[in-house]
Amino acid sequence: MIELEARLDELRSLGLARRTRLVSGPQGPHVLLDGKPVLLLCSNNYLGLADHPRVREAAADAAMRWGVGAGASRLVSGTMTIHRRLEERLADFKRREAALVFGSGYLANVGTISALAGAGDVVFSDELNHASIIDGCRLSRAEVFVYDHCDPEHLRWGIARAEGRGALIVTNSVFSMDGDVAPLAEIVELAQRHRLRTVIDEAHGTGALGPGGRGALAQAGLEDQVDVILGTLGKALGSYGAFVACDQTMARYLVNAARTFIFSTALPPPAVAAALAALALLRERPERVDRLAANATALRAGLAAEGFDVGTARTQIVPLVVGRPEQSMRICEAALARGVFAQAIRPPTVPPMTSRLRLAVMATHREEELREAARTLGAVARACGFDPRARGPVTDERADAGELVAAGFVDPRDEDGFGQRAAARHLPSSPPPARRGGVFDFEAPGGVRRAA
Ligand SMILES: Cc1ncc(COP(=O)(O)O)c(C=O)c1O
Repeated sequence: MIELEARLDELRSLGLARRTRLVSGPQGPHVLLDGKPVLLLCSNNYLGLADHPRVREAAADAAMRWGVGAGASRLVSGTMTIHRRLEERLADFKRREAALVFGSGYLANVGTISALAGAGDVVFSDELNHASIIDGCRLSRAEVFVYDHCDPEHLRWGIARAEGRGALIVTNSVFSMDGDVAPLAEIVELAQRHRLRTVIDEAHGTGALGPGGRGALAQAGLEDQVDVILGTLGKALGSYGAFVACDQTMARYLVNAARTFIFSTALPPPAVAAALAALALLRERPERVDRLAANATALRAGLAAEGFDVGTARTQIVPLVVGRPEQSMRICEAALARGVFAQAIRPPTVPPMTSRLRLAVMATHREEELREAARTLGAVARACGFDPRARGPVTDERADAGELVAAGFVDPRDEDGFGQRAAARHLPSSPPPARRGGVFDFEAPGGVRRAA
């Protein structure tokens, strides 16, 4: 049995204990956090629609017209006219035949992936995919080939090793903790050549990238080249819930096979109405997306001037990788004391020794306040003993990873994925086959079995 107090003590000693913080009022660019006014730099309310008056009114109105709950799952009596309307609008927005609304992005990934792969199949998954993708892979009972982050060569190698058992490639389009974009054209090309299905998670691309905010796939002209586009309603669209956009056959199949669609209560009408209003606003005023990009550029420029490595990505997500969890927390708390709220993100959300401040820009920030925040972050980082200009890992990453696993806070299967990433940094672009094992059998007794 898990000794709860002992586990919590261990978490504390590793600098990994978590707690919730309390925000008063709506998720605007400024919030009251634990009673103190701060600039909010870690919300996924990218377009400022969660607190938009029209979106709030739509939710309030829906509560009066349809009630606050759907009362049943979609296949019983939970599909209401407003769900159907949202699905039609989302399909049109993503330029696909059909869309299906799920309870959340987590549920959409878990349900879709586990419906599209099964025992005996191989799923190919980027090593930095979101936890809901990882859990979907596990639930599918398929073997999972975790390919090196954004590395089509490693993916190609894995597909060959799967010897025809490949079923699905799944990836974030925009990586939630790094802000970089998957090599979508190469992934689509490989999928088509090897007759694999593709699920692309546009949780952070929808509303933020591409023409009219239609996503990273639309930006790359690939919207109609993948099997499933997954989007969330709880980020740029300011509400809650998620959807998949696909063709009619896929939609009909998922209605019958995605257990998280079948066995969970339908989305509440106010959340559906809010998403509809947000979508209408996005279509009316697509310049919000340009504003978001301009703000991301302003923040990156300010951080680069402070010496931070802002990488080459151009999205609204900007990671400041610090390394040690305790130091990330110290910088986070010091920034908060100076009025900037950028939550520290630590393992297991990110690989060991890559703890970071994950900054997220909103279209409703002012450029000047973002530049000021960058100056604050530079000053507090230095005051906390972290020199932004001296980049790179702080200590022995593998030792720390092992420590986390031993303490039971990181699943060894996750650790293996992270380990791959850490190792990849030091390897030539075409690593020798010995390291290229990567088909993991999550069901195997005794932890991870490398089948390749
Ligand atoms: C890439 C990605 N997919 C899925 C999800 C889950 O979405 P939701 O919060 O709607 O469950 C998230 C949430 O952060 C995410 O970042």
